[in-house]
Amino acid sequence: MAEPDDCVLLKQGAEARIYLSAYKDTPCILKERFPKKFRHPELDKQLTRSRIRAEVKALKTCATLGLKTPQVFASDLDKRTIHMEFFPFAITAKDYIINGNDEQITWISQEIGKYLAKMHSNKLVHGDLTTSNVLVYNEASEDDFSNTEELKIIFIDFGLSQHEASAEDKGVDLYVLERALLSTHSVADQIFPTILEAYKNEYKNCADAVRKFEEVRARGRKRTMVG
Ligand SMILES: Nc1ncnc2c1ncn2[C@@H]1O[C@H](COP(=O)(O)OP(=O)(O)O)[C@@H](O)[C@H]1O
Ligand SMILES: [Mg+2]
Repeated sequence: MAEPDDCVLLKQGAEARIYLSAYKDTPCILKERFPKKFRHPELDKQLTRSRIRAEVKALKTCATLGLKTPQVFASDLDKRTIHMEFFPFAITAKDYIINGNDEQITWISQEIGKYLAKMHSNKLVHGDLTTSNVLVYNEASEDDFSNTEELKIIFIDFGLSQHEASAEDKGVDLYVLERALLSTHSVADQIFPTILEAYKNEYKNCADAVRKFEEVRARGRKRTMVG
């Protein structure tokens, strides 16, 4: 299998590098969680292993739930890598929202809410929800993002996911998303309420999670006011 040295670097993040690679002649993504120098090597190794395990498990759970995610081709805890399906024409929800009109922003907000509801109702929490960890793609005509009916969303980057999530974990997941939206998007006020509404419609037993979210948010507000 291709090693990072043979591959083209697509993205360099704080925790991982994303390479364009191949798996049995099919183009794929090679995600490598490189060692972090400031961490104790043994701790770094353990953290990396648990993140790769969590990511692979979550990607598989989503697939079982009928949610679109990159298919996992292989993972290697010692090499710190995951080979997964590549969506070459996908763009991030961040870019989609920045360039989107009202209708497109409403559409993606509803999709994110529904996707998250499906995960949470199956005890899966993402752990790092931002609009850079959601991709938008068009299965039919690749780089055309004009018609929402042809588009689908995909969640990625599940290294901090939790699999037996409590109502509190879910509430925190919602809160992390709200904070991320507020810091990234000037139209956050337009997005988050729509996400939450779609989430509530889709997730019948969401009351505890939503209550926890409101509690966590109220604590956050208090902390901000105290300074
Ligand atoms: N399967 C994929 N197909 C297409 N692009 C991807 C895929 N996985 C990751 N990317 C791109 O790489 C970026 C970083 O990947 P991510 O898994 O979020 O790692 P990081 O931990 O560095 O944030 C994403 O925001 C996206 O633009
Ligand atoms: Mg990411």
